[in-house]
Amino acid sequence: MSNSNTTPSNNSSSTDMLSTSAISTNAIETDFVQWFRNAAPYINAFRNQTFVIYFSGDVLADNEFPSFVHDISLLNSLGVKLVLVHGARSQIDKRLTDLGIKSEYVHGLRVTDSKTMQVIKEASGCIRLNIEALFTTSLKYTPMAGSQINIISGNFVIAKPKGIIDGIDYLHTGDIRKIDTHSFLRSLSAGDVILLSPVGYSPTGESFNINGEDLATQSSIELKADKLIFIDDSNGIRDENNKLLRDLTVNELKELIQSGAISENIKRHYQRIIHACESGVERVHMINRNIDGSLLLELFTQDGIGTLVSTDHLEDIRKATIDDVNGIIELIQPLEESGMLVKRSRERLETEINNFYVIERENSIIGCVALYIADNAMQAEVACMAIAPEYQSQGRGEKLFSHICKQSAKMGLKALFILTTQATHWFMEHGFVKKTLADLPSEKQALYNYQRNSAVYIKSL
Ligand SMILES: CC(C)(COP(=O)(O)OP(=O)(O)OC[C@H]1O[C@@H](n2cnc3c(N)ncnc32)[C@H](O)[C@@H]1OP(=O)(O)O)[C@@H](O)C(=O)NCCC(=O)NCCS
Repeated sequence: MSNSNTTPSNNSSSTDMLSTSAISTNAIETDFVQWFRNAAPYINAFRNQTFVIYFSGDVLADNEFPSFVHDISLLNSLGVKLVLVHGARSQIDKRLTDLGIKSEYVHGLRVTDSKTMQVIKEASGCIRLNIEALFTTSLKYTPMAGSQINIISGNFVIAKPKGIIDGIDYLHTGDIRKIDTHSFLRSLSAGDVILLSPVGYSPTGESFNINGEDLATQSSIELKADKLIFIDDSNGIRDENNKLLRDLTVNELKELIQSGAISENIKRHYQRIIHACESGVERVHMINRNIDGSLLLELFTQDGIGTLVSTDHLEDIRKATIDDVNGIIELIQPLEESGMLVKRSRERLETEINNFYVIERENSIIGCVALYIADNAMQAEVACMAIAPEYQSQGRGEKLFSHICKQSAKMGLKALFILTTQATHWFMEHGFVKKTLADLPSEKQALYNYQRNSAVYIKSL
């Protein structure tokens, strides 16, 4: 587009400049089209879903908070029902320090005296007003201009005092007693966004300081939300080598807690996540607040950027069906073109689909393998094994292979064989031994492609 408005300098080749510019525009367009196609299934799936989003007080202090407001507005305009729960810890701590009030903590919980409660009410009220103002004013000059979002806040949360534990009176620190989900549902179906502060009220007229993360968790459970999302400073869930774990099942998270070396605070947070999942919230996300657009990246890209804890595995190894043919073609075509795999026509794949096993991840086929049982019903050929390049070297090949080994053993097979050109070592490392053509079932010997000259490997089961 810029070509028509700019004059190329005299000493450079205008043809070169034109073609370079055209290529880069095309690349941007291709990226955009690809991105949009990848995001489309999520846009579709999220419509009418309910997300409860907790964000820490620090998110509000960020320069990026207006961008966060746009992202929330975008979700709202896509038909997602939103309950926002804000934290206020950093704002409260700052006010307390300014006033010279020292908070007492016992077992990680603030003991909230009357003065502190007053500060908490002031901080929460101030935050609430700021958020409401941002939803009104900041959208005016953005891509979301013209969208009208009603933010609803109110006395939705009934609280009770935490009471006296081990002789310590926690005073105005409270627990959630009840959440008025009827009012929530009414507002959400009208397209309004609900905003909750970490303060609850008792029927006796007292206010209580409640934990924002607990409030988000409990709201998501009572609303039977589709997602509970935490946006804060935590950098997702990490393994012992500090590697980000992108997705975990509840059981894996429990194992992580049992492995120890986790602080009490983090453990409490993980237990909250487990509680949400076990109470029916299928997906809980942990997102780092310091990445611009982190919410959208987490929700609209296949792998996200944080950690997703879910009740079941995101990936499933299963027998392929005729609906998987397109996904398998997409996966194996580049490998066929590079000569790693033997070419298979669509017709052949459709006819042989019952021989295939696939790894499905969020509606995409990211791995496949085929098993062809020989006429003697004692051996089977392992063929067309592939893992999508971006998912390789993370143990998936091994999992898929061990799955078909188990299936083969169940079928009473005694051995597996493979004809391979470039993955001999992978199969050797998985128990295959080099053999000769004469060791293969006779029908396979007859079909051997001498030009391809594949090596023959056999594994006893
Ligand atoms: C072979 C393949 C299926 C393995 O899948 P994967 O998910 O990467 O496997 P895993 O994660 O279980 O194992 C990864 C290990 O195997 C090694 N590996 C991967 N491909 C290999 C190959 N062709 N030869 C030897 N080793 C290989 C990796 O280097 C890695 O080793 P490391 O753990 O020491 O770093 C995958 O690499 C692939 O799709 N390759 C292209 C297609 C192909 O060759 N198929 C086999 C012919 S049927």
